[in-house]
Parts: sequence; structure tokens; C-alpha cells
Amino acid sequence: MTFRIAPSILSADFAKLGEEVANVIASGADWIHFDVMDNHYVPNLTIGPLVCEAIRPYTTAPIDVHLMVKPVDRIVPDFAKAGANVITFHPEASEHVDRTLGLIRDSGCQAGLVFNPATPLNWMDHVMDKLDVVLVMSVNPGFGGQSFIPGALDKLREARAKIDAYAERSGRKILLEIDGGVKVGNIAEIARAGADTFVAGSAVFGAGKDSDPQRYNSVIGDLRGALAGV
Ligand code: DX5
Ligand code: ZN
Repeated sequence: MTFRIAPSILSADFAKLGEEVANVIASGADWIHFDVMDNHYVPNLTIGPLVCEAIRPYTTAPIDVHLMVKPVDRIVPDFAKAGANVITFHPEASEHVDRTLGLIRDSGCQAGLVFNPATPLNWMDHVMDKLDVVLVMSVNPGFGGQSFIPGALDKLREARAKIDAYAERSGRKILLEIDGGVKVGNIAEIARAGADTFVAGSAVFGAGKDSDPQRYNSVIGDLRGALAGV
């Protein structure tokens, strides 16, 4: 099993975002998780395609765009043009889930669905062929620094079973990502429940001293160390 660590730049220093992106990848992260909020689908407002384009030159690592916006489709090609590699969205925010997945793929990105704590996993059942990523939320979307909702572990096990059954019949592997409240102390348990890709915002960007350019090495090392025991 290959594990991916995807720091969420929601908790980074926005005044020096390019540097933060470069530092966190140099410290061993795999993906950059990019949280897009619209103050409509979720009660917060963050960053859009302009910021994605601005950070793109700072890394060759995949940019994982998590859209918490409604409607979804209008903004998808803009993110593809801005250099996104993965685009995920919440099924409740799209009128036509299958069409939105197709649009993301046609724009040249990998596509995924995001499941809120109360959203049933059966949204994925009829679109498995169009999914590259399934993202399970372990907090209600909108803010960094919230606590992990334990019920997400059972949901991960359920999602893992669906993804594995699909891989068996299709030969295609869908990634299983978790987002919200991931820390050094719970990442192993989350991996054992079936996640292979881990978003961590406050755990990563809250670490270390401001003045130390290597400050993310030790927390990312600790996250990997915890995963090594799984
Ligand atoms: C919440 C976002 C998360 C958030 C995670 O709506 O989707 O990606 O940044 O932050 P932490 O890791 O602090 O819970
Ligand atoms: Zn997110």
C-alpha cells in the first residue's frame, strides 16, 4: 500500500503561500490539498483559480483541488487551466453528478466525489468508472482545525470494501482520501480503516517554529512513521 500525505494549505501562511507550498513538499509531502470555499455551499470563503495558478510554479507535486462550491461546473475548466491535477466536489452541490465527473476528466484532471459526514456512500455506486478518488470527510466542511468525527472510520471501511470490489472486477484502482482532524496520533487507525491518502492541515502547518525552513520535516516524518507501523 502506498500512502500519500496531502497538507491542506488552508492552514498555511497565506502571505507567503508559494514558499509554504515549496517547503511542505521539500519536507516530504506528496500532494498539495487546495480547499475552495464559496460562502454559499459552506460558510467560509477561501481561494480560487488565480491562487492555484499563482502557486503552480512552486511545485511539480499534484495539486488536489477540493471544491466546496455550488454550482460546481462553471469553475471546473478554470481550475484545470490554473494547473489543478485532481478535482473533487460534493455530489449535493452538482445537479448532474455524472456530467460533472465527465467534465473534470475532459478538462484533463482526475475526478473525485466528496462525502460529508451525513452523505451516504451510494452516490458513488453508478459512477465508479468515472471516479479516480473518493474523499471521505471526517469533519463538516468549512474550517480547518476541527476534531476528527469517529464515525468516519466505519465509513472508510465501507468505502474501502466498495473500492476493492470494484478493483477486482475492473482492474482499476480508486484512491481513498480522508479529510479533517488527521493527526500523528490517529493517522495509523485511519489507515487501518482503509484510507490511502491523508489530508492534514493544522497538524502540518501548525508545526514547528516560523523561522525554521525545515519545520515541516519532523511532523511529516512523524505522520509517515505512524503509517509505517500499519
Ligand atoms: C475542511 C477542509 C479541510 C481542512 C482540514 O473543510 O476540507 O481540508 O483544511 O484541516 P485540518 O487538518 O486542520 O482538520
Ligand atoms: Zn479539504
